[in-house]
Amino acid sequence: MVEDISFRILLLVLLMSRTDLKRQHVRIVLLGPSDRNRMFSLWHVRPVIQYLNTPLRHTHSVLRHVKFSVHYADSHCNSKDAPIKAFEMHRQADLFLGPTCDYSLAPVARFAPVWNIPVVTPGGFAHDFGANKSEEDAEYPTLTRVGLTFNSLTLLVLKLIEQFKWKKVTVVYDGKGHDDVAPRFCYLAAGAFMKYSKDHALPHGFEIFHPTTESVDNMLREDVAADNASK
Ligand SMILES: *[C@@H]1O[C@H](CO)[C@@H](O)[C@H](O)[C@H]1NC(C)=O
Repeated sequence: MVEDISFRILLLVLLMSRTDLKRQHVRIVLLGPSDRNRMFSLWHVRPVIQYLNTPLRHTHSVLRHVKFSVHYADSHCNSKDAPIKAFEMHRQADLFLGPTCDYSLAPVARFAPVWNIPVVTPGGFAHDFGANKSEEDAEYPTLTRVGLTFNSLTLLVLKLIEQFKWKKVTVVYDGKGHDDVAPRFCYLAAGAFMKYSKDHALPHGFEIFHPTTESVDNMLREDVAADNASK
């Protein structure tokens, strides 16, 4: 009987130390663009990530017993390379960090729940990523965004509109604006605004501004003013 108990305790200790060991090693697959010109380039992110395993972090952090190993993969900021990398590396991943570009993130965050892998990203600005994750048919249930998003940007603008009691709104955007941050950055920002203003039953129009073929002055005068000016 005593033997049996001590055997069980031994087994428990062994099991605990095993799960402990397991928990101490977190394998991160970091997906991001290698293009140095991008804000979230792997070249910019790597030094911060390397800090994870420095002695300095160990003395202060509650995660000091956790060891991180990081694999870097080039997402090319597009919708094809990022999911291919995710497929190639998901067996070595406890966590996907990134991608940041919306079009890379969408497919990765869509497949990650199948492998039960969390996705944490400072990107993913589009409003769709904020949809309720508890619903049965949620598209991105393992995704967590930790940065600013177009949802919060839009809510701020709507508050302003409410505050000033503005009745008509025109969204002016350049479909290719800030492509250097992430492809279709401004298009997605405008998209979030359209979605929320519809939810708020706000009358709105939209103007796509083509910087290569028209001037701001003309666009405001001929398109925006003509439709919106009072008599
Ligand atoms: C999200 O969905 C769950 C399940 O349908 C529901 O209980 C919850 O209230 C929803 N949350 C929000 C913020 O809508």
